Amino acid sequence: MPKKLEICYLFDRRCEFIMKTKKDVLLVDDDHVTAAVIQHILAKEGFLVRCARDGKEALDAIRSRTPDIILTDLVMPKIGGEELIRIVRQMPDMDDVIIVVVTGTILEKDQAACSLPADAIIPKLPPESMHNRILKVFREIKESGRITTRLQAETVPSLPEGRIVKELLALREYQDAVFEKLSEGLVLLDIDFKIIKVNDMAAYLLHKNRADLMGHFFSECFADEDRKQVGDLLTGLFSKKDPEYEKKTVIHKNRTLDLKLTSLVDPITRKAVAGIVLIENITERKDLEKRLRASEKQYRDIVNTVPDIIYHLDAEGRFLFVNFAVKELGYTCEELLGQSFLSIVHPDDAQKAKLVTGEKRIRTRKTRGIELRLLPKETKDGRIYNVRNVPVLITARGLYDVKDHDIQNPLKRYIGTQGLAEDITDRKKMEMMLIKAKKDWERTFDAITDMVFLLDKERRIVRVNKATIERLCMSRQQIIGRQCREIMDPKSHPVERCPIAKTVRDNLPHTQEIEDTNLGGFFICSSSPILDEQGNILGYTNSLKDITERKRLESQFQEAQKMEAVGTLAGGIAHDFNNVLMGIQGYASLMLMQMDPVNPHFPKLKKIEAQVGQASELTRQLLGFARGGKYVIGSIDINELVAESAEMFGETKKEITVHARMSEDTLTIEGDRTQIEQVLLNLYVNAWQAMPGGGDLSVETNPVVIEQSEAKIHEFEPGRYARISVSDKGVGMDQKTQARIFEPFFTTKEMGRGTGLGLASVYGIVKNHNGVIEVESEPGKGSSFHIYFPTSEKALEKDKEGKKKIMRGTETILLIDDEEIILDVASELLATLGYTVIKAKSGKEAVDSYRRKSGEIDLVILDMIMPKMGGGKTYDLLKGINPEIKCILSSGYSIDKDAKEIMARGITTFMQKPFDIAVLSQKITDALAGSKKK
Ligand SMILES: Nc1ncnc2c1ncn2[C@@H]1O[C@H](COP(=O)(O)OP(=O)(O)OP(=O)(O)O)[C@@H](O)[C@H]1O
Ligand SMILES: [Mg+2]
Repeated sequence: MPKKLEICYLFDRRCEFIMKTKKDVLLVDDDHVTAAVIQHILAKEGFLVRCARDGKEALDAIRSRTPDIILTDLVMPKIGGEELIRIVRQMPDMDDVIIVVVTGTILEKDQAACSLPADAIIPKLPPESMHNRILKVFREIKESGRITTRLQAETVPSLPEGRIVKELLALREYQDAVFEKLSEGLVLLDIDFKIIKVNDMAAYLLHKNRADLMGHFFSECFADEDRKQVGDLLTGLFSKKDPEYEKKTVIHKNRTLDLKLTSLVDPITRKAVAGIVLIENITERKDLEKRLRASEKQYRDIVNTVPDIIYHLDAEGRFLFVNFAVKELGYTCEELLGQSFLSIVHPDDAQKAKLVTGEKRIRTRKTRGIELRLLPKETKDGRIYNVRNVPVLITARGLYDVKDHDIQNPLKRYIGTQGLAEDITDRKKMEMMLIKAKKDWERTFDAITDMVFLLDKERRIVRVNKATIERLCMSRQQIIGRQCREIMDPKSHPVERCPIAKTVRDNLPHTQEIEDTNLGGFFICSSSPILDEQGNILGYTNSLKDITERKRLESQFQEAQKMEAVGTLAGGIAHDFNNVLMGIQGYASLMLMQMDPVNPHFPKLKKIEAQVGQASELTRQLLGFARGGKYVIGSIDINELVAESAEMFGETKKEITVHARMSEDTLTIEGDRTQIEQVLLNLYVNAWQAMPGGGDLSVETNPVVIEQSEAKIHEFEPGRYARISVSDKGVGMDQKTQARIFEPFFTTKEMGRGTGLGLASVYGIVKNHNGVIEVESEPGKGSSFHIYFPTSEKALEKDKEGKKKIMRGTETILLIDDEEIILDVASELLATLGYTVIKAKSGKEAVDSYRRKSGEIDLVILDMIMPKMGGGKTYDLLKGINPEIKCILSSGYSIDKDAKEIMARGITTFMQKPFDIAVLSQKITDALAGSKKK
């Protein structure tokens, strides 16, 4: 039966004790005296007693052999009794161990004592009562093997209440509370590095029960590699006289722990007596740090991948930060730090750059759009890293060490500027390209010689080219904003014909030829719509091509073609006519020569001859107009010829006054004197006829130089010309008359007064002399005719034509002509002059005769135009027979290209039909003499 034990306190827990022969008691007390007394009492009672001076020694003893009973004090150094009990209670296989507490602190700690997992608590004082109580408890254990009696609180005897003890205990309690409540783990180590105190946080962080920690080597808590290091650190620390701190970070059970180790040194012996380890869980901090570092890296990477330069300047404009973008300029970020921002700015932009470095605006108020050129780094060898200066667009914002809303506060402190420099090289290039493209376009637009208008959708002019401004003689301002029809002549440019109006209606291009009387010309007006990509109308273009000159040239060309056709006709008629006249003239001449002047038919024959003269004058006019050349080519002094003819004309027409003004320069031309005289005479006569009541006739000569630029307009070849101007103050001509005056047979004169051949022949002769004729006239005011002949550098030839004298001869002449009448009359004329005539009716006959009688024949008179074998061919064959042949070429045509070609082969003399006996004798004399000269 279990006995009731008289012990201070009653415990909830029921304990059973199995009796053994000799119970093993572990006595734990730091008080040697108390320990010795109790050991003595218990040994006498038959207990086996082991002693430990504190909890730490007790734990060692328990681990070496499990005791039956633990008798422990509460207040002890290193591991105290309370701690020891709790550890023992947590240890496996220790449930049966009877724990008896002997304490002097029971009164003050009664509450806490009640919660102690001990089987009995015995107050320490006074000693005799304590000894009795111990004996009671141990005897009960010896008898029943356990403590069966529940102790009543009232049975606890009163104890003396020591004030110091109370305070000490309070302090101890407070310290323990602090020790336990620390957010860091705290571990106290004994001199042999074993754990003697540990708080909950330390046990938690070390991932162990207190029981597993207490009395164990601290370094054993860690993995191998850390274990050694921690041990070494502690050894190092404990060997020092002055306490020092060591720090070590270990990874323990997935946690990062910061260990702060130090030693407690005895102030007298200067020896380490204990160690303290503060364990801080820095896993989260480390994680945070890691995350921070990662996020910082992320931002740094982003900042550094931005192609724009991101900068942070201090208050003096020096770089505090700059991203990798500066590499493009050849710099490294590091070398720019501390450098002034201005050091990388083009000197010409320094002023603008100062706006950036001193930028003090904040938040959304920032500088934007400053364009600068940044200098690339100059390498050591003086070479520019990057040839170009980099144009950048700057954004800058001021930084302050006060909050934004304090910005008005004068105490605010500006600490720098942050911003961005965007590389705008491409944009600049694009801008330059755009500007160039615009300029190119404008230049092209202005280079167009046609007038070009660009119109908006409302057909208002928005742009015109240079040609338009010049042609309209208006300023750009006067044109822009108006409509085409306000500028162009509305009469000659009616809206219904206007191509623009059509384009507006159907959105298609249109072209129309128009005449504009305002501008005085003809134009091809083309309009087209300007469309965007979707085909919407943006506006219109209207261009006007000036075709006035082309029109003039076209009509001139038509006129020239007409003249040529008529000329050919006139030439043909004149030729046939001349042959007829030749017959009449020849026979009349023969009859007159053989007739006595007193014969009553003599004057009639003379009249026939005179009529033939007039008729041949007509054919002469016709031939002058006809296409072809000149009769006789020679150098003519224009001043002399004009002055002479004008004077002569003035003498014959007394009712008009001739004013002749000759150029001081000598004007020599190449041409046919007689034809030029004919030209002048025709003009004088017309002028005289235009002034029926008499008046002034002005004749002038001038040297004129036609430049290349003028030549085209006036159908001139560029060069020097002699200009002859014949002006009157007569009736003048209207435009319609002027347009037709050069047509053969065009006359405004009454029947019989004019044939209308005068100006036609003037025109023909001038053209044949490579000249140009111009006319100016106004009805009622008078007319001026200007004739231009190209001047010649050749020396003047004296007039070879002597007085017309009939010369006779006895030579034999071969006369060749296909016209029977010409053969007859000419052979008779030749016979009259004393010559022997051999007639040939064709080229073939002539060649035959010549072959037979070439030795007799002195001269050949050869008609140019013959059927089958013409003059040219005949001459060649004759010349083949006798290379020394003498020949006169005769023709009803004037001397033209064909005639010239034949003559170039050796003929010296040309004779125009019809010829009279005087001309015939002169030409024969010339030909025979010319050949003689040879
Ligand atoms: N000086 C002038 N003043 C006014 N009209 C002129 C003048 N010269 C020529 N004309 C006009 O030109 C027309 C043609 O002149 P052109 O000399 O060819 O023939 P014409 O004088 O009428 O006849 P023709 O000269 O054959 O006797 C004239 O009929 C006249 O109407
Ligand atoms: Mg006339």
